[in-house]
Amino acid sequence: MRICIKNGIVVNSNGRMHSDVLIEGAKISAVEPSIDLPDAQTIDARGCYVFPGFIDTHTHFDLDLGTTITADDFKTGTAAALLGGTTTVLDFATQTKGGTLLEALNQWHEKAKGSSCNYGFHMAITDWNSSVSKEMEVMREKGVTSYKMYMVYPALRVEDGTIYLAMKRAAEIGALLGMHCENWGLLEALTKEQLALSKTDPLGHPRSRPAIVEAEAVSRYLRIAELAGASAYVVHLSTAEGLREARHARKRGQKVYLETCPQYLVLDEGRYCEADAAKYIMSPPLRKPSDNKLLWEGLAQNEIDTLGTDHCSFTMAQKALGADDFTKIPNGGAGVQVRAMLYFTFGVLSNIVTLEQMAAHLSENAARIFGMYPQKGIIQAGADADIVIWKPDYEQRLTYTKLAHACDNTPFEGMAVSGLARDVILGGEIAVQNGTLQK
Ligand code: URP
Ligand code: ZN
Repeated sequence: MRICIKNGIVVNSNGRMHSDVLIEGAKISAVEPSIDLPDAQTIDARGCYVFPGFIDTHTHFDLDLGTTITADDFKTGTAAALLGGTTTVLDFATQTKGGTLLEALNQWHEKAKGSSCNYGFHMAITDWNSSVSKEMEVMREKGVTSYKMYMVYPALRVEDGTIYLAMKRAAEIGALLGMHCENWGLLEALTKEQLALSKTDPLGHPRSRPAIVEAEAVSRYLRIAELAGASAYVVHLSTAEGLREARHARKRGQKVYLETCPQYLVLDEGRYCEADAAKYIMSPPLRKPSDNKLLWEGLAQNEIDTLGTDHCSFTMAQKALGADDFTKIPNGGAGVQVRAMLYFTFGVLSNIVTLEQMAAHLSENAARIFGMYPQKGIIQAGADADIVIWKPDYEQRLTYTKLAHACDNTPFEGMAVSGLARDVILGGEIAVQNGTLQK
């Protein structure tokens, strides 16, 4: 099948141009000023931008917290992703304590069957030992290029010495080991303080996780990476103070990649005073408007590399598990469908970042960091035909009822946004047409 996208403006990280794009099979075969092939199916992209398919570096579908399980599985989560222009999600295949990496990878591939878009996994290591260290080689053969460890959550967290050993090993085999950076000891002590004062409402969550809890952990992770001779990837950076720590490490000559999320750009801690505050309970928590501003600046200066959603959705009934105790509220929110709209509205249309940076932050940088470039992350001949036709003048007010994810809320409820993934091509096939999923 041949598809020709005509009259659009192709946007890659290095520039934009009026070009037609020819797709043959699953690949882009030509990007030229004018392509006329009578037998090709034509998509008119006049007035639209043509982006490389967006890559979400951070989702949690079908995640079992022990107390409850995410509202979205891979079926609903990837359908929502695709409607937002995301053609690839990177989720987390999480090792169970006592289990092997291979078991985890197989289990998560099983969960991901029937996904609507491309998916890959970072492997989350929770139980480090010598056989896991050996297994990392096997994982490389299976296409795993990245790992993650957590400094928090009782079932997942690892100690500094383990982080050091795992990072050294990751560096040896050319993999990247990312980190959820929060200081567990501090946040435990601060949580106890809140509870001792009978502060059990959602405000206890941000109070027990102030910016220093993140910044100290970022600093420590980056020092461990320095010692291990490893590159670093900070997931869901939420604070200006954390960004400053990353600047210090870069000044020392370290390779540091940074990811932030839309919620840390467009929402702030004022939300915890609202009646439905449980909806905003996530880790790290929402921060100050000054953090929003400095993170946008970090994107504008290309100090921040990627934008993941950390989509980890729970219904309001699930959130109510913590009605009497904020520590029992399942952490996370839904955002996989709205990432590009939020970046476009509050970043591009506000003249903070450019369309080219949108291509970089939402697609190319992730493709480069996680070993998918140049198959993904760029519109050029030979690349995978994962493409978003972005209609800039579509306006809407976000509400969960119009989003495809499977839970009854979104932290971005009521926000007015512009831009729509009007059509999405996935591996050479039209997956979304006029904002509607085709399968
Ligand atoms: O609150 C969050 N972010 N939940 C998902 C798990 C994680 O910490 O990334
Ligand atoms: Zn996460």
